[in-house]
Amino acid sequence: MGIFDSGVGGLTVLRSCLAALSAEDFVYFGDTDKFPYGDRADDDLRERARLVGGWLTEAGAKLIVVACNTASAAALGTLQQELSIPVIGVMAPEARAAVQSTRNGRVGLMATEATVRSGSYERLILDNDAGVDVTSVACPALAPAIQRVEPYDDEIVRLVDEYTAPLREAGVDTVILGCTHYPLVEHLLRRMLPGVTLISSGEEIAREVTENLTRRELDRVDRLGTYRFACSGDAESFRAFGATFLQMPLGRIDEVDPSGLLAR
Ligand code: DGL
Repeated sequence: MGIFDSGVGGLTVLRSCLAALSAEDFVYFGDTDKFPYGDRADDDLRERARLVGGWLTEAGAKLIVVACNTASAAALGTLQQELSIPVIGVMAPEARAAVQSTRNGRVGLMATEATVRSGSYERLILDNDAGVDVTSVACPALAPAIQRVEPYDDEIVRLVDEYTAPLREAGVDTVILGCTHYPLVEHLLRRMLPGVTLISSGEEIAREVTENLTRRELDRVDRLGTYRFACSGDAESFRAFGATFLQMPLGRIDEVDPSGLLAR
């Protein structure tokens, strides 16, 4: 199983997959040299996704999860067309779960600027139920703030308050956490959005991948799988930030240049 993200954030998706698919082997690629993806142009995102997708295929992946919402929004279709193995993005499972969860037909989205700009979540939600009202909030400063060494300061509280204000105003009863980093501030979000159901990609994607592998008879059983990591930036900072996101030991991390598929 190949998983990729702009950095360490996708480890929140990997940790759900490791729990739900314990027999599978995983290789995770964090494009840390290019983090954050959130303010990059679509062409740039597609180019990176192609390189990383190619690298994961070479590494032997039988299925790729694009754990990064920003990369899913810009490049999922491209990867699905160009790669010979199944490619799953985080948006469709989250959109479906949000439509199933809402009772008042008002759904909120918190995501990076590029993800909101793509309009992908709105399209997927409206495809599931054209009657749902979507309030999207771009949160450009949130993922970088969460990734700082000591993220839990007053600034993070201020940012969460600011970004959730339009959602409180709109009276949403369900909010999609449309970025891999946001589960790390889930408790703050629950405080600021009382009574609101939060949909995060980890659990939804784990369900989707399990179904996909079973349907294709590609699933493995009766063993404990392995996991390893590669990143395009510095391996030691990946390790330092990554442990918080994965909540498991990180083990092997290779520094890789995805453009040449070469270990540095
Ligand atoms: N992985 C990105 C996402 O889910 C997080 C932040 C970024 O790279 O800007 O959108």
